[in-house]
Amino acid sequence: MSDYTKFIASVKQKTGIDLSLYKEAQMKRRLTSLYEKRGCKNFTEYFELIRNDRSMMDEFLDRMTINVSEFYRNSQRWDVLDKKILPQLLQKTNKLKCWSAACSTGEEPYSMAMVLSNHLPMREITISATDLDNGVLEKAKVGLYPERSLKEVPTVVKQKYFNQEGQFFQVTDEVKKTVLFKQHNLLDDAYGKDFDLIVCRNVMIYFTEEAKDQIYTNFSKALKPGGILFVGSTEQIFSPERYGLESEDTFFYKKI
Ligand SMILES: C[S@@+](CC[C@H](N)C(=O)[O-])C[C@H]1O[C@@H](n2cnc3c(N)ncnc32)[C@H](O)[C@@H]1O
Repeated sequence: MSDYTKFIASVKQKTGIDLSLYKEAQMKRRLTSLYEKRGCKNFTEYFELIRNDRSMMDEFLDRMTINVSEFYRNSQRWDVLDKKILPQLLQKTNKLKCWSAACSTGEEPYSMAMVLSNHLPMREITISATDLDNGVLEKAKVGLYPERSLKEVPTVVKQKYFNQEGQFFQVTDEVKKTVLFKQHNLLDDAYGKDFDLIVCRNVMIYFTEEAKDQIYTNFSKALKPGGILFVGSTEQIFSPERYGLESEDTFFYKKI
């Protein structure tokens, strides 16, 4: 097993993150420059460093995951949102207040709009989408993506809500109009309230236990009773009742 292959296995065991799903040459290049900066000679030494030092682990996570997103990420979960969660939410109201927190370059809130449009006219959909990084928000507003970001998008949705521009695909104006992008720091800024649906995926992995605790508490307060928090596929909440939440389906939590 190569130095890097062992590193991949160790990181997966420690964090649940599967580096083998990222382009190897690019990832190795990024991480090699980082471990050299930290005085390590190879991935084995680097793993020992990040394993024993929380700030080094955070730096590593920051370098390897930041801003990675795609449409309908973990598409089976989006099916559950479409077929189970949204019909339940729409029994009570047809005006849903929705938030995509840590939305990166927009794939997630636009996916929300596309799924919601199976239940509501597009013009009645409004989604708040926030991220810490203003750079990604600017890209999100443009809404132009390489084809690989769309690999999980159902063909009918791709035909209906994207325009091909050479090698790229642009989200239609109809979809873009549903999403309001704004800068927001989950660790520092005030949260909104009375949300029916909060989607926050693949960012909690950056945070310490204390920070996660605070964020889940804030999300719970920001939800209406019966509202839903949809989290990432490595981010299940242990003891959700601590936050006044209960499991509704895998990776979906309902405010009690
Ligand atoms: C890996 S992306 C996840 C994108 C999308 N949610 C998804 O699952 O595909 C993580 C995003 O979290 C954002 N982020 C990191 N720290 C944050 C913070 N403190 N508050 C808000 N967003 C943050 C990063 O800028 C990045 O865009």
